[in-house]
Amino acid sequence: MEQTLSIIKPDAVAKSVVGKILSRFEDAGLRIAATKKIQLSRADAEAFYAVHAERPFFGELVDFMISGPVVVTVLEGEDAMTKNRDLMGATNPKEAQAGTIRADFAESIDANAVHGSDSVENAAIEIAFFFAQKDIS
Ligand code: CMP
Repeated sequence: MEQTLSIIKPDAVAKSVVGKILSRFEDAGLRIAATKKIQLSRADAEAFYAVHAERPFFGELVDFMISGPVVVTVLEGEDAMTKNRDLMGATNPKEAQAGTIRADFAESIDANAVHGSDSVENAAIEIAFFFAQKDIS
């Protein structure tokens, strides 16, 4: 069974659509193997998104990700990484297909409701960033 990491970002948490988003994962056959609501520190956000450190949007991305609590979740199931990305829709909600999480709940490319791992290799790294193995079941 494949695992992937989802982050419900501060905009979606503030809008109280956490339950709706988690339901979409479960309705698509993905199992919640671990989940928690946390406030990221600046150091956490900078480390998590280190791959984007040189991009012009890095500062805004980090500011946004620490603007309120997030919900981090390990999703498990067949093709979990790809399934989650299909459910999320395009990074820019204006380009996201109707019925996707970002089309339905996101406002902008910064406040885009959710993050999902973009490869199985990165999923393992991102899961380990937030969860100890004993917390995943
Ligand atoms: P996420 O999947 O969390 O990965 C990095 C985030 O950077 C992305 O979602 C967007 O919210 C944000 N971002 C802002 N501007 C851009 C951009 N031009 N290209 C890609 N990601 C961007």
